[in-house]
Amino acid sequence: MLVTRQPVFRKFWHAVMPLTELANGPKPFRLLGEDIVLFIDADGQPAALRDRCCHRTARLSKGWCVDGEGQACGTGAIQCGYHGWTYDRSGQVIRIPQYEADRRISPEYRTTAYRCTARYGYAWVALEEPIADIPSIPEFDDLGYRTIFQFYEEWQTSPMRALENSFDNSHFSFVHRATFGVAASPKPSKYELVENDSGFYAETIIDATNPVKFHAISGVTDPITTRHMRNAYFLPFSRRLDIEYPSGVRHIIINCFTPIDDGRMQLCQWLFRNDTEADCTAQMLIDFDEVITREDKDILESTDPDALVDTRRRGVEYSMESDRPGMLIRKHLMQLLAKHGEAEVYRGMDENAVIPIAKAA
Ligand code: FES
Ligand SMILES: [Fe+2]
Repeated sequence: MLVTRQPVFRKFWHAVMPLTELANGPKPFRLLGEDIVLFIDADGQPAALRDRCCHRTARLSKGWCVDGEGQACGTGAIQCGYHGWTYDRSGQVIRIPQYEADRRISPEYRTTAYRCTARYGYAWVALEEPIADIPSIPEFDDLGYRTIFQFYEEWQTSPMRALENSFDNSHFSFVHRATFGVAASPKPSKYELVENDSGFYAETIIDATNPVKFHAISGVTDPITTRHMRNAYFLPFSRRLDIEYPSGVRHIIINCFTPIDDGRMQLCQWLFRNDTEADCTAQMLIDFDEVITREDKDILESTDPDALVDTRRRGVEYSMESDRPGMLIRKHLMQLLAKHGEAEVYRGMDENAVIPIAKAA
């Protein structure tokens, strides 16, 4: 599936950038192939515009923010770095420094503005009117949990690959054999899967190695422990991984696999823990998950990002029983596409249609 060719994904909120990244001025991001610029407006709210000035097309992300007097500051209106045209969060040009102060600016002088809001420490963007809410993360406001912003990084793969991997119990003994995977038991434990409107809920208990260096993470000292996993998938590209150790320690990871274009995604990862910094430091938790995350990244970047979604296409990818969560993700994505009058778009499907037009030109 080529995500940039499926318009329905423009109708969802996507986590695009931690708000802390925007404190010192505008930053670029590519969302579903669309170049956008993010900045914090004068009210302290994140804003997103098309990253293209309507004067001579310079990237607005090369500019800076200005206050009401036109003075550079970290937040406010965004000023193009080429000739200084200045935009508000609605995309309207509100100041042209070369004009006399009382000269009217045409309302046609504007760039596209996208819906942008702050939630859970991130700027979220929807390119079109969203059809679903931002997934709920109750732990963010729960005093019993601490929030750790674990990862924000680009991966050379697609959200579909990261999603199915996150529910795939049969890769632990291989991809994670050097960390928590138990190499001697490659047969995956069974998932209990319960479907709902926005995806599914999946529950299972797995064995996990628990060397001394993991004791603070798990809160237990047995050499092999268990992880009670309560996972959930949210359309289109988010998941919740709730790990409970026998100690009662909860390790809850929320991921948004934000689509950049057809070959790249942004990994946005929050971690919530119901213990304290004294029990296990945030840095230790970041380091622990970083090793595991690197293992997944390395193998996923070797896969074809154009993942098969419409399983009626035979002979492209083969599956086994433990791929069931991934198949359910596909089912939900196919239902979503069908509901919006779309079919899966994949590499090569329309080459015959495109090439003759290109040749004629
Ligand atoms: S290109 Fe942006 S002000 Fe000229
Ligand atoms: Fe993994």
